[in-house]
Amino acid sequence: MDALELLPIPLPLSANSAQLSDFGREVKNLDPGNLNAEQFAALENALYHYGILLFRNINLTPEQQYNLVKAFDPKTESYGHGNKRTVETDKKSPFYGMQTIPSVPQVQLIGHGIVRDHEGITEAKLQHPSHKSFHRFPLSDDEERAGFARFYHWHFDAAMYDLKPPKVTALYSVNVPQGPRQTVRYDDGTGDLLSVSLGATAFTWGKTMFDILPNELKSVAVRGRVRYPPHPFRWMNPAHAMSTGVMMETEGLEVPLNELPPWEEHKIQTLPMLWKNEVTGYLHLQINGTAASEVFVDPLPEDAERVGALYPEGAHLTDLKEVRDLLNTLLRPGIAPSLIYPHDWRDNDLVVFHNRGVFHSVVGAFAEDQVRVFHQSNLASLDLPLGPDDQDVKRWA
Ligand SMILES: [Fe+2]
Repeated sequence: MDALELLPIPLPLSANSAQLSDFGREVKNLDPGNLNAEQFAALENALYHYGILLFRNINLTPEQQYNLVKAFDPKTESYGHGNKRTVETDKKSPFYGMQTIPSVPQVQLIGHGIVRDHEGITEAKLQHPSHKSFHRFPLSDDEERAGFARFYHWHFDAAMYDLKPPKVTALYSVNVPQGPRQTVRYDDGTGDLLSVSLGATAFTWGKTMFDILPNELKSVAVRGRVRYPPHPFRWMNPAHAMSTGVMMETEGLEVPLNELPPWEEHKIQTLPMLWKNEVTGYLHLQINGTAASEVFVDPLPEDAERVGALYPEGAHLTDLKEVRDLLNTLLRPGIAPSLIYPHDWRDNDLVVFHNRGVFHSVVGAFAEDQVRVFHQSNLASLDLPLGPDDQDVKRWA
């Protein structure tokens, strides 16, 4: 990694700097739109080691952004949710307000407010996702005016049906409105709060999320798989998220499978709870909890310690409440305020993150007249992520 100058990312005071010392790096003196093979190899290595790479004051065209993302997974062609040119108009969709850039359909225009004559788009009415249309118990207008906010939806970028999870996402800020800081309220009985800049993107590292779990939950995670239903975002559309944005409330509102758009069994994804980093070999907890419908846990290996073990004989959970209770137990520790890097955006920032090793959420709310312009790109991979190997199971089960 000699060719790269890598600095720690600016962690906030709320962060546990010891636990996050290897999470994120700022890359200096490198133009991510014009990399030679050697520079790219060093950058790729850094991404898998540190999870997030930040570049400041970068000029990057949508074409260059696409080429950068594609370099991490050269066989890919399609945007993470497909290459259809779309404007998402469903207010409850997590993709509401996204608009495809016509000349490079693998790059999306996202943000807030009215944007005119931008990259071939005459006019776009963008909408920053609001927790108010997604959470079961949203903040009141008064609470928002007082500066409180929520994590909108913790996830990694993936369709979770047919198209396979992208390896990398690149977020590029063209225009960032400034405003007072906001305080994220978890509202899950813990009293947890996190101070963030207006419109921050919150990141937590799947590696840390696994490392901090107690042994009995590590054992479940290393033996566990999650099944996602067909068209998971359509399926969960009428349902509501918990106030942390990490899991859904169970109200029986999901769309019945026979009322979803046509689907095929072989396109359904059942993925390991832990994904093995293809460069470092570390295990990352990667569960899109809000979109999950079933859990499988393999039995403990014969020689494993059984005292205090959960699901020693294995399990197949199909009751949504039970599935969500378990997944919340696994995911919630990893979104503690001390484990989060909330990125404070400036104009012309580029954040490239390892989408198969990092969990993130949109935060906060903008006023009607604030204009935010971002370009986002990720590409559906042709391969599924790797799960734990036999040695991992032996070590952690
Ligand atoms: Fe995302």
